[in-house]
Amino acid sequence: MTTHWWRHAAIYQIYVRSFADGDGDGTGDLAGVRSRLAYLRELGVDALWFTPWYTSPMADGGYDVADYRDIDPRFGTLADAERLITEAHGHGLRVLIDLVPNHCSDQHAWFRAALAAGPGSPERERFWFAPGRGADGGLPPNDWTSYFGGSAWTRVTEADGSAGPWYLHMFAPEQPDLNWEHPEVRAEFEDVLRFWLDRGVDGFRIDVAHGLAKKPGLPDVGADPDVTDLPYQDCDAVHGIYRSWRKILDTYDGERTFVGEVWLPTPEQSARYLRPDELHSAFNFEFLCCAWDADALRRVVEETLAGLAPVGAPATWVLSNHDTIRHVTRYGREDTSFDMGDKRLLDPSDPVLGRRRARAAALLTLSLPGGVYVYQGDELGLPEVQDLPDELLQDPTYVRSGGADRGRDGCRVPLPWSGFGTSLGFSPDGAAPSWLPQPVSWSGLTAQAQQDDPESVLNLYRTALALRRARLVPLPETLTWVDAGPGTVCFDRQDGFRCLLNASSAAVGLPDGARVLLASGPLPGGTVPPDTTVWLSL
Ligand code: GLC
Repeated sequence: MTTHWWRHAAIYQIYVRSFADGDGDGTGDLAGVRSRLAYLRELGVDALWFTPWYTSPMADGGYDVADYRDIDPRFGTLADAERLITEAHGHGLRVLIDLVPNHCSDQHAWFRAALAAGPGSPERERFWFAPGRGADGGLPPNDWTSYFGGSAWTRVTEADGSAGPWYLHMFAPEQPDLNWEHPEVRAEFEDVLRFWLDRGVDGFRIDVAHGLAKKPGLPDVGADPDVTDLPYQDCDAVHGIYRSWRKILDTYDGERTFVGEVWLPTPEQSARYLRPDELHSAFNFEFLCCAWDADALRRVVEETLAGLAPVGAPATWVLSNHDTIRHVTRYGREDTSFDMGDKRLLDPSDPVLGRRRARAAALLTLSLPGGVYVYQGDELGLPEVQDLPDELLQDPTYVRSGGADRGRDGCRVPLPWSGFGTSLGFSPDGAAPSWLPQPVSWSGLTAQAQQDDPESVLNLYRTALALRRARLVPLPETLTWVDAGPGTVCFDRQDGFRCLLNASSAAVGLPDGARVLLASGPLPGGTVPPDTTVWLSL
């Protein structure tokens, strides 16, 4: 029976380094995940997305892959991954893994061979090596900048000590971009897909899905670029790659799926990745970046649904991930929007306001038609950790921006599970300190502390996910807008279900005769106070 599970799944993102530490080295691992599968089943999610678990020097938290067919020893072994996939399936949880095809690690066998083989060698053709500009080739081959800051090119020092050509890296220098015009690159990733599909994974999250193909000739961006036509993203050739991958995926049973990290300026551009013979779904970054403003939120929902309708793809809703500011903190700021480029500074945040809005946002997100992502710790109401000591920061964006950008470590702090000890149950007793320290105040936010508190964020998520599965998942993927007054977002799904978010500064009344199914906060005197969402049965 076809379930189309991926159209409406609640998918929990596991950032492996920070989820749970089974072996006591202070870093999360697959044994830690295996020990927490019952927690995830009870939370009520349908699937798990694992950020890269492959062998990696961790120059970018595992998004620098040295071997796509093995597990990093910090996380475990290939046998552990196979056991984890089987056990997750036993709990009714599907497994998606992160595929990183735009670039590999500079420690990958191919890149090491390319450096060793020297200029002009076939080994270098799998990457983008190019001579520099200027008299002695001392300037980068073009004007592209890395997403992490600085030039996107690094010059090679050859084995004899001479200055060689440059190689392209759209992220850190330890992440050389692969040349997707090369047939061996295409063949290799098709084989990697099969390797993991044969091991039972239910699908892949595609890293930087818009970036694999580059404009022929690698032309300069120029001084005043058209952001919808950049030479290093959304180039037409990328679609041929996904068509060939989709053919492979569809030869496997069990409704396997692709979700793309497609981060582009317009919904039309993103929708092209979701044509019926390409990827199944993509992250909704417009929603993630949207300010806490009723009109803006409603507009994003409308544009999302309208943008996807022509290709028939499901919407997805996401509030946070391992690259962004945790939304509890974002929503407590004066500027509640998020921009990958410039919103990771130390703006002050009101934690009480942020948590109230985060609870309201959770109910909004979980009642919209389509799929939903929960980033680990969302369900505990974790804030961003903004005061990590400089010397502990590991994200390359911190160093490459000269400290101007604090980087992404503040949303990657290990989860608090239980107790009051040094790692709050993240590691076993007596373990090494965790790779990033948790704030002492998180002892009040542990899963254990929230477990039996009916008002906790954890129990809000559990109840909402269960209600969503029972009541909303079976419904058609449509909604009808309702005018509930200024500053509100209100819509009906079918079967008498209504979601009402009050993002205004005044209380609003409940509709006559409506029964409250769930509320993100107290409803004093039968009204919905500011920054509160209610689910109603009409
Ligand atoms: C994606 C990942 C991010 C990583 C980058 C480079 O944006 O989500 O964490 O740094 O790709 O692989």
